[in-house]
Amino acid sequence: MSIRAPEAARIEIDDVSLRFGGVTALDGVTLELASGSLHALIGPNGAGKTSLLNCISGLYRPSGGSITYSIEGGGERRIDRLPPHRIARLGIARTFQNIELFKHMTTLDNLMLGRHMHMRGGVLDGGLYWGRQQREEVSERRSVEEVIDFLELQAVRGDLVGNLSYGQQKLVELGRALAIEPNFLLLDEPMAGMNVEEKESLARFVLDVYEEWNITPVVIDHDMDVVMEICDRVSVLDFGRVIAVGSPDEVRADPDVIDAYLGEEAHV
Ligand SMILES: Nc1ncnc2c1ncn2[C@@H]1O[C@H](COP(=O)(O)OP(=O)(O)OP(=O)(O)O)[C@@H](O)[C@H]1O
Ligand SMILES: [Mg+2]
Repeated sequence: MSIRAPEAARIEIDDVSLRFGGVTALDGVTLELASGSLHALIGPNGAGKTSLLNCISGLYRPSGGSITYSIEGGGERRIDRLPPHRIARLGIARTFQNIELFKHMTTLDNLMLGRHMHMRGGVLDGGLYWGRQQREEVSERRSVEEVIDFLELQAVRGDLVGNLSYGQQKLVELGRALAIEPNFLLLDEPMAGMNVEEKESLARFVLDVYEEWNITPVVIDHDMDVVMEICDRVSVLDFGRVIAVGSPDEVRADPDVIDAYLGEEAHV
């Protein structure tokens, strides 16, 4: 596999708060996400999981606190004031809870555009890219093709994304994130809406990028069985606060976590 082996990296979230008017989505969140673990972020609906991912990836600007990104031997920098494409270029890729793809474009073009944003910075440069020499396109295509092979998307590489099944679109979105060769891969409910078979193969892909490509996944999901099976470090959010961090077994036995989940069930 010639995908670049990522460096050891770390995201330090320090006392991050996020408010929308009267709503406190995040309330003093302190959390460290480091290479060498497969992270899960869990918690009831509205706990602030997506908000935290949005802060890390630059879509939301925290109301307080800081987020620092460091690469071993490469120094560290605050990222909580950077725009999303700069954060992506530093090596933090993500997928969305609601799929965000260019549906009128092919699988291959979606991945190429994702990669291009990483390489040259900014979707607004897209017009430049499409006019570039074929030679450059070929070299960029090479690692995109690796991602397509890895995710077994060959059969739909030329299909318009809007015509693909929901499960396939989720995979294309994962592919677009992988195409930027990230250190971190933030996945917001990657398995939601998938059938059992699709969930199993997605879990396999996440494990493989972690083990073979040395990319650090951070997975938000409501399917506790999957989370407990593939992740080795679980952080639990409830009402915008971190209520537990630990191994799956530690977290499952934590009284606060049991309370939070029982509380959620009681409201259903
Ligand atoms: N853009 C926004 N404007 C206003 N309120 C928001 C916004 N984004 C999130 N919130 C609020 O912040 C809180 C946390 O929402 P968030 O989407 O982060 O939760 P979540 O843990 O991802 O939930 P779910 O499991 O349902 O996806 C909620 O009360 C939500 O309504
Ligand atoms: Mg969410």
